[in-house]
Amino acid sequence: MQRTCLVTGGAGFIGTELLRQTLGQYDRVVVLDSLLPQVHATAPELPAGVELVVGDVADASAWAEVVGALRDAGRLDVVHLAAETGTGQSLAEPSRHALANVVGTTRLTEALDAASARPDRIVLASSRAVYGEGAWSFAGELRYPGQRGVEQLSAGQWDFPGAEPVAMRADVVHPDPVSVYGATKLAQEHLLAAWCVAHDVPLTVLRLQNVYGVGQSLTNSYTGILPLFCRMAREGRAIPLYEDGLVRRDFVHVSDVVAAMRAALAASTPGVETLDVGSGEYATVEHVAGVIAAAYGSPAPQVSGDFRHGDVRHAWADTSRTESVLGWAAAVPLDAGLRELVSWVDAQLGAATPTA
Ligand SMILES: NC(=O)c1ccc[n+]([C@@H]2O[C@H](COP(=O)([O-])OP(=O)(O)OC[C@H]3O[C@@H](n4cnc5c(N)ncnc54)[C@H](O)[C@@H]3O)[C@@H](O)[C@H]2O)c1
Repeated sequence: MQRTCLVTGGAGFIGTELLRQTLGQYDRVVVLDSLLPQVHATAPELPAGVELVVGDVADASAWAEVVGALRDAGRLDVVHLAAETGTGQSLAEPSRHALANVVGTTRLTEALDAASARPDRIVLASSRAVYGEGAWSFAGELRYPGQRGVEQLSAGQWDFPGAEPVAMRADVVHPDPVSVYGATKLAQEHLLAAWCVAHDVPLTVLRLQNVYGVGQSLTNSYTGILPLFCRMAREGRAIPLYEDGLVRRDFVHVSDVVAAMRAALAASTPGVETLDVGSGEYATVEHVAGVIAAAYGSPAPQVSGDFRHGDVRHAWADTSRTESVLGWAAAVPLDAGLRELVSWVDAQLGAATPTA
């Protein structure tokens, strides 16, 4: 039987790596991507054989060409990656994010209906942003402190007093987004789950932590802090650290994320499964900025005390359940991944001149 894969947003960072690794498994790979200028300063290089349809997922007419491919798909897998991804930007441009992420997802299910297509599996790239600040342990009791307000942040009270943050894990911590972006990613989860359950289509929701690695956009200043840090450091600037620099993040290498997506596509579990994808460990932003600054011999990062609404204090994944369900584990150590990223950024932008 013919095998088809539809990848929305397949020309982006994660999508391109996914296509490289999975292309051989399908007879036909169709990508619907608007080639957002903010992400794509130049035309993307997709592997040969990929059918690229340039169009906006929120635009019903953009799906017309794709619907034909869905009709004759044979075995069909769908990976839904297309999204506006700027956490800070989403507060100022909420409709832009809602259109791409929310309406873009309902257009996908309408296209599947128009083609009478029932995929063998849908994989959604969701985000740790759906958790917001997540759960914190107050003397052993899990509570949801919610969004940090202007007063708290302006006073430099970054943490929640008397509480310890808890790793994010879908079957333990409830979603409670604090950014427009996070709210739209949670909406994607609910919209797809409603459609998939009604049509008996298996859905795997992967809540990704901070993905980094070769191929990341070097021009999109709204997302992906590591390339931004590389650019600043190679210009000899001190990297500014928001809050007190001790914000925790789980940086997961793109090859580990794609491995999780491939494992999800290969799974035979029915129903809706929601899993966390990260390295399973956290690093402070101060640490990663320090590693990057040292690689360029640039001045030490400096705490700015600035903050951004929608940014959460700490985020990292407990991946134990993902590991047992998917038989997957993250493999790339952060320091090795950062060295690779720095070399790649230099190869893209030309060698930097260290300042010291
Ligand atoms: N990179 C991360 O750290 C991270 C973390 C959590 C979740 N995710 C999710 O993973 C997915 C892929 O992220 P990425 O890092 O590859 O981002 P990316 O910006 O590199 O790729 C997204 C792609 O979607 C396309 N796109 C955007 N809006 C579109 C629209 N309206 N119609 C059609 N195409 C559109 C863009 O042109 C781009 O090629 C997104 O859904 C994102 O929310 C990413």
